[in-house]
Amino acid sequence: MFRRLLSCLLPGNSPVWTLWPHAARVHPVLLVHRVEDVAPGLYALPRSDAAEAALREACRAEFEWQAADRDLPLFLLLQAAAAKTARTLSCHQDIASHSAVTLMFVAEFAAPIADNPAAYRHLHWEAGMLGHVVTLEAEAAGWRGTGIGCFFDDADHEVLGLADTRFQVLYHFAVGMPVDDPRLLTLPAYD
Ligand SMILES: Cc1cc2nc3c(=O)[nH]c(=O)nc-3n(C[C@H](O)[C@H](O)[C@H](O)COP(=O)(O)O)c2cc1C
Repeated sequence: MFRRLLSCLLPGNSPVWTLWPHAARVHPVLLVHRVEDVAPGLYALPRSDAAEAALREACRAEFEWQAADRDLPLFLLLQAAAAKTARTLSCHQDIASHSAVTLMFVAEFAAPIADNPAAYRHLHWEAGMLGHVVTLEAEAAGWRGTGIGCFFDDADHEVLGLADTRFQVLYHFAVGMPVDDPRLLTLPAYD
């Protein structure tokens, strides 16, 4: 399920991407907590070869960039118990540490915006679409995904070693088994 979900985030691999016929400029970085046969830690899934090279250059020099899958462009950056870090980075929210995996969506930032200021908005749309795909694939597999709009981007950048504006984290997302909150009411649409 993990591999299918990640595969669908790559250009062309979900019907959602027919709505986005542009270059892939937002790239998932994963904090893996509980995925069978995947070592907990920090991973990157660059959605283009150019982004892989640019991220390798921009991120912390000590990251391993060890190929972590036979088909997907998934790289292990650092093996670590990452739950506390994920929670702190996501405004101290438990969903980020109790999940199976928490994602950070890292956008190519300064260059696209210098080229066209509207790219600021387009990058947020692209991050949102990545979140939609995670939601759809998680739900289809009987799991659940939750957008995390509250996170500390400066702290994200410190963890990743991003020291300038070439990349910017725009969005976080958690994937896991749902725990329903009995305090919340669901009303019919347009109640
Ligand atoms: C952009 C965005 C940011 C969100 N940020 C958070 C968050 O930081 N923490 C959280 O618990 N849920 C967050 N959510 C999830 C929502 O609170 C809500 O659970 C989710 O949208 C599903 O609810 P719905 O079925 O009413 O849309 C976010 C959702 C979106 C779309």
